[in-house]
Amino acid sequence: MRKFTTASFAKSKGEGHVISMLTAYDYSTAKLIDEAGVDSILVGDSLGMVVLGYENTLQVTVDDIIHHTKAVSRGAKNALVIADMPFLSYHVSIEDTIKNAGRMIQEANAQAVKLEGGKEVIDKINALVKAQIPVIGHLGLTPQSVNMMGGFKVQGKDEGQARKILEDAKLLQETGVFAIVLECVPEKLAKIITEGLEIPTIGIGAGKYCDGQVLVTQDMLGMFSDFTPKFAKKYCDVGVNIKQAVLQFCEEIQAGKFPEEKHTFSIKEEILKKLY
Ligand code: KIV
Ligand code: NA
Repeated sequence: MRKFTTASFAKSKGEGHVISMLTAYDYSTAKLIDEAGVDSILVGDSLGMVVLGYENTLQVTVDDIIHHTKAVSRGAKNALVIADMPFLSYHVSIEDTIKNAGRMIQEANAQAVKLEGGKEVIDKINALVKAQIPVIGHLGLTPQSVNMMGGFKVQGKDEGQARKILEDAKLLQETGVFAIVLECVPEKLAKIITEGLEIPTIGIGAGKYCDGQVLVTQDMLGMFSDFTPKFAKKYCDVGVNIKQAVLQFCEEIQAGKFPEEKHTFSIKEEILKKLY
């Protein structure tokens, strides 16, 4: 398979190929996802919740994302690797924003970054694009604004919110982002946004009309049980398998069933005798 690039995103929309995106935070999972043929891998700040055990994404740092993106980049051969810009890493100044995003590319080997918001962050996005750093936008439910939104809620149900998301999407496109993640917006609003844009939309809880779909891997594999959003389809139940395997291991070592001969190493009898 050929490397999926930012250009492949634009091409996919024209050709009607639905872009696949999943999250990963470590080498071995990234390798599995990549080998299965996914188009793009997001090192999301969902890291904070599903890997680090925080209550939300706000405590994730630039160093956290870099650490995990390094691992994912080593595992991803064909998929485009996208690093998520964490809370406050693109709000303070343009200089900070470019430095932080630059580290994602230069140190962690990501090929693009993603950040949340529209008009409020447009000057930062503009600067990143000028610095030749490909950017994916993120509109609708933007989890880094959880304290401003007063919880994780569907966005764009009333006319004002819907118009703001629509206008932000247009503005992001004009500024040069190569795709937009739409999170938790009504399906028919996502349809209008998608049809009005030349760049692809990648939906999560945004229905079937988006140009691509993204899920948090831990959700779709059934590995994260603290909270399951309505849109998170479980494709398998790895959590159950893990618990069964761990239980069996614990039972087998008590019963003397593990390890067996095939799991052990031998030593010559004459050497052994000398040791007694
Ligand atoms: O952090 C993340 O995993 C994300 C996706 C849900 C789009 O931003
Ligand atoms: Na995120």
